[in-house]
Amino acid sequence: MEKFVIVGEKTLSGKVKVSGAKNSALKLMAASILSEGRVTIKNIPGIDDVMTMIEVLKHLGAKVSFDLDQKVLQIDPTFISSYEAPYELVRKMRASILVAGPLLAKFGHVKVAIPGGCNIGSRQIDIHLKGFESLGAESVIEHGYIYLKSARKGPKPSGKEGRYLQGTVINFDFPSRGATENIMMAATLAEGKTVINNAAREPEIVDLANFLISMGAKIEGGGTDCITIHGVKNLKGTVYRVMPDSIEAGTFITAASLCGEKVEICDAIWSNLETFCLKLREIGIDIEDRSNKSIVVKAVSRPLKPTYISTLPYPGFPTDLQPIITVLLSIVPGVSIVTENVFENRFMHVEELNRMGANIKVDGHHAIIKGVEKLSGAPVRAFDLRAGAALVLAGLVAEGTTEVSDIYHIRRGYEDFEKKLQSLGACIRVE
Ligand code: EPZ
Repeated sequence: MEKFVIVGEKTLSGKVKVSGAKNSALKLMAASILSEGRVTIKNIPGIDDVMTMIEVLKHLGAKVSFDLDQKVLQIDPTFISSYEAPYELVRKMRASILVAGPLLAKFGHVKVAIPGGCNIGSRQIDIHLKGFESLGAESVIEHGYIYLKSARKGPKPSGKEGRYLQGTVINFDFPSRGATENIMMAATLAEGKTVINNAAREPEIVDLANFLISMGAKIEGGGTDCITIHGVKNLKGTVYRVMPDSIEAGTFITAASLCGEKVEICDAIWSNLETFCLKLREIGIDIEDRSNKSIVVKAVSRPLKPTYISTLPYPGFPTDLQPIITVLLSIVPGVSIVTENVFENRFMHVEELNRMGANIKVDGHHAIIKGVEKLSGAPVRAFDLRAGAALVLAGLVAEGTTEVSDIYHIRRGYEDFEKKLQSLGACIRVE
């Protein structure tokens, strides 16, 4: 099994460009199912989760081609003939369940494996299911699969323009990103108007809404907590460019905060990361917005200050950057407290960091971090995508050599991670 070997305490400098956003690209790929024609998506990151979503789309019968060098994906959903997302693919990547909304809306039925939990939490899908039922679908759960079908039996109803779903008002108990995406996609072809209250507001939701609108969907309020979708008869093909990845940007911003001289993170959009960047400034990091196109981090001489962090749905502090900023706080003098409010079990990186000399105590949803002078390199394990990235950052700043194993987790969401870090001066290799 591959591992990263990192020799710490190298100074980072120069420029690095973030790739297309994983947590938008996967949804645009699922949304392509809704189209009557071919879809071209640019700036797609070459990551394992994209390859898995390509497998899912091909399993359904779509024609998919991916030019990895040009980062351009072409999807032709015309020949889709299966409506099932199988367990072996959903187990590999939970985001596979996002084909449910498009398949249900376009074909009237879908069979999708129940994703089950993962390392960071139970990852329920009850909000998704309640939303589909509100739109007029019937759901049956058996043998580890969810069967969803339009209450309108048989072939496409001859009623008003033959819609499988009926628009309605849906109130989310929690602003779930996946549920917002699934229901928004399903509602594009429903009859009449759908309103989603307490919707998720992440920039990736706006990207998906803009993608659907480019296909002819009628959507208002993307990025707010109230999204209105007016159903249309069908959607057409489009050419679209995925937004840059804010979480990858935050990862490189933190790497620069840990051991950078002067680093510019290109395609890092400040307005998508405001809460995170302002928190870094509060700690004492010299971080500068370059007209919302890139972010520059410079070394500081004065001591950094401890802080409190509480993860929340956007625009709150992003849970995906919680393991990442914990590495920085682990060497900030004083006591910092990080509270994880979005997932039940997102402190898998803490024990590994403590093996590197950090002094972090987990108490329920809180991590109490007592800053130490420095971390020391050690063999550690990646338990999930962001925990793995956090351990790489810890290795960059630690004294001596760090080996991060199980890096397949990291390959799921970071394109050319070690190459980008090497280009900044990090000493990191794959073994
Ligand atoms: C998305 O997951 C992201 N994944 C996650 O990123 C991210 O951490 C998460 O949003 C929160 O920002 C993708 O976009 C592929 P949720 P998602 O539905 O859609 C509970 C990464 O590292 N919930 O907002 O699954 C759920 O259990 C990954 O890139 C329900 O209870 O997030 C969780 O505790 C990790 N019922 C919380 O809400 C539901 O029906 C957030 O889930 C749905 C969710």
